[in-house]
Amino acid sequence: MVKRHANWDKLLVLAKQGVAPLCTLFENDPARPARMTGTHSGLYVDISKQLISRDVLQTLFALAHEAGVEKRRADLFAGKPINTTENRAVMHPALRGSCDNARINEQVTAMGIRTRKFAQDIRARGKYKAVLHIGIGGSDLGPRLLVDGFAASERPALELRFANNVDGASINDALNGLDPKTTLVVMVSKTFTTLETRMNGVAARDWLGKYAQDNMIAVTANRDGALIFGVNPAQIFAFWDWVGGRFSLWSAVSLSLQLVYGPDMFDELLAGAADMDAHFRDAELENNLPVLLALTDIWNRNFLGCSGRAVVPYARRLRKLPAFLQQLEMESNGKSVTLDGHMAPPTSQIIFGDEGSNAQHAFFQYLHQGPDVVPVDFIAVLCDAENRPAHTSALLANCFAQSEALVVGKTEAQVRAELKAKGIAAADIDVLATHKTFPGNRPSTTIVLERLDARSLGALIALFEHKVFVASVIWNINAFDQWGVELGKELAGTILDELQGGADGEHDSSTSALIALARNHQAS
Ligand code: F6P
Repeated sequence: MVKRHANWDKLLVLAKQGVAPLCTLFENDPARPARMTGTHSGLYVDISKQLISRDVLQTLFALAHEAGVEKRRADLFAGKPINTTENRAVMHPALRGSCDNARINEQVTAMGIRTRKFAQDIRARGKYKAVLHIGIGGSDLGPRLLVDGFAASERPALELRFANNVDGASINDALNGLDPKTTLVVMVSKTFTTLETRMNGVAARDWLGKYAQDNMIAVTANRDGALIFGVNPAQIFAFWDWVGGRFSLWSAVSLSLQLVYGPDMFDELLAGAADMDAHFRDAELENNLPVLLALTDIWNRNFLGCSGRAVVPYARRLRKLPAFLQQLEMESNGKSVTLDGHMAPPTSQIIFGDEGSNAQHAFFQYLHQGPDVVPVDFIAVLCDAENRPAHTSALLANCFAQSEALVVGKTEAQVRAELKAKGIAAADIDVLATHKTFPGNRPSTTIVLERLDARSLGALIALFEHKVFVASVIWNINAFDQWGVELGKELAGTILDELQGGADGEHDSSTSALIALARNHQAS
């Protein structure tokens, strides 16, 4: 069990005592929205609709101090090897110029100059029409989020396609209609050993044929792997073992974005993230947005028992954010063992989501009347240059209305009065009343972006990165390894061998039967 901090125990007591309903908290404290809202880097973060009283908030901050968040934050920025199970520093903030390590800064600057020049040259030559980005997980989700976000303020100069899944449909669809002569294939893999990326890379290399030497690019921390694969040494771009896959979008991993939208746009993204880095590094915990969000998650997860969280961006250009955060949060903090090898308390929430308002027509029924309380992160954009004003207003109205509905709910008495006013018969009211009642008092956070551009997107992503780190410090877990994905990869290798004619392996009887089923089908 995690070392129990005194403030953890205090929070258990406060949770047991219960917090007044949200409506009461708002009524009794008109300053609550102002007190529980912070702004930075064009982001407005409002946690006043969380089931958090003044006492709870104070104790959460005390917990953050007690858990040593300030020291661990300093360790992160100093490049200490805080990824202890892999004995690595965690220095993705260095990719946006936020660390003081001269050697690392030199590497980052040199690579930045190289990618910028490469992207500018390609764009200036005008020879290429499309970029195919091949990668999976952290080598895919970040660039996919960016491509949509960047489209809010810039037209792409080249067509950008993605192939991630090992399902052949992924690469087939991505290649469909492209010309090998005018397509650049960017293979992105930190390890260069990932099955999906290698198989898609082989398919793309075959498709490129005689153009492979010129048109294939690799971005990797395993230069030798890329060389053996046959990538032209002049077209290999590095990143480093101190950049975790899910924190790597700030590196050459996003080369495709620089090719398509230009390096200036990418610099804006980095500047936005650097701004959030400075805020996270320098602001006291009580006024620190990532800390605020982490403490909210801890309260909901560990003291109110909410195991899920919905992420709903009311912006089509942010529709990949839920998928990106699934990896960022669940791969980072989906752990059960503390740094010192003990059983951790419940950690990462199960993240799911979709763009609003689509999500309203899918899973919001559950959020309003379902059996479990699922906190929601609402994300809204105030000023959207490409959107029609009426559409922006409708998006904002829907977003704000949903969080309000979650707070206020609707009592049975209100429902009965409404139905009566509509002239519904008393017997029918008796049948309908409970079905139309909303419990309310369901928590949410609202993050509002002044505008959606590369800079605010950088700040938003960095906000979530740092939140994940702070939560990991309080849970005393390592947010930067991912051993949990290894076993499945190993077993897939064994089973693939069996499906391709290798000797039978030892499996549970269900798995053996499934392998036999597939083999029989292949043989028929
Ligand atoms: O799924 C595990 C994982 O290692 C992720 O952490 C990573 O982002 C992804 O696979 C892809 O890895 P690579 O960039 O090495 O191909």
